[in-house]
Amino acid sequence: MQLTLVRLAGPSVQDTAGVRPIGEADIEAVGRLYAASFPVEVVGDEAAAIADVRASWDGEYGVWLPSASLLAEVDGRPAAAILVVDSPPWEDVSDLVFIIDLFTDPAHRGRGLGELLVRSALSAVEPGRVVGLRVDDENEAAVRLYRRLGFQERT
Ligand SMILES: CC(C)(COP(=O)(O)OP(=O)(O)OC[C@H]1O[C@@H](n2cnc3c(N)ncnc32)[C@H](O)[C@@H]1OP(=O)(O)O)[C@@H](O)C(=O)NCCC(=O)NCCS
Repeated sequence: MQLTLVRLAGPSVQDTAGVRPIGEADIEAVGRLYAASFPVEVVGDEAAAIADVRASWDGEYGVWLPSASLLAEVDGRPAAAILVVDSPPWEDVSDLVFIIDLFTDPAHRGRGLGELLVRSALSAVEPGRVVGLRVDDENEAAVRLYRRLGFQERT
């Protein structure tokens, strides 16, 4: 059967989103985005989410990598973020560069921002390093995204 496919003209969000390193001044906005992106039972309220992003920035989950920890903005507003550290404090992954979080505002999902951020972060990491992350196997959107970008289970 032939499908008739259409879409609006114009660049896709992936082409127009601004991607830049997260600065200290962005921590609150990234925390609010974090709270909006996960169920409250996972990250707690906004204050808890902001505190967690600050803890990441401060090195609680490994050495914050400023060039790979990125914020994507759409129309100048925070839409997605990726937080990346080196040498996380968990023994089985302490040799890796580690994506500790990736999240996209629910209103902007499925438009390629997650992929854009992972690609951008991978480009910012020293070639030859291994980049890892943990993801729940039931998180289909995330697992598909990571597999599409070449991530495989560590053996
Ligand atoms: C995982 C996550 C970051 C992906 O972000 P994203 O900006 O939607 O990513 P992309 O657009 O690049 O696409 C990811 C995949 O999810 C699908 N998807 C996720 N949410 C979607 C939605 N609301 N509508 C349509 N598609 C969606 C996309 O179609 C794509 O799958 P594909 O392989 O079929 O193309 C986002 O779903 C999210 O923030 N989830 C909650 C936080 C989380 O679980 N983070 C991962 C921690 S490891």
